[in-house]
Amino acid sequence: MATIVIDGEEKQVADGSPIMDACDDLGVPFACRAGICGTCVITILEGMENLAPKTQEEEDMGLADDQRLACQAVINSGTVVASY
Ligand code: FES
Repeated sequence: MATIVIDGEEKQVADGSPIMDACDDLGVPFACRAGICGTCVITILEGMENLAPKTQEEEDMGLADDQRLACQAVINSGTVVASY
């Protein structure tokens, strides 16, 4: 199992899973859920190395190095700590 921590609250997800549902439960706002609008941008505080590489949608968004789209990112394993 992998762990997503946002603003001190955490959810467990299966290794290799999208983080969207966990982030939704933890209060991250979503709109398109398709990597287009940028509503779900989160800042990764710890554990960026535990996420799969950025998707094409994330690359196209021009995110900062410590930012990901919660509707696109997949966690490989371990713990990711983020804020939104
Ligand atoms: S919800 Fe629109 S980019 Fe993630």
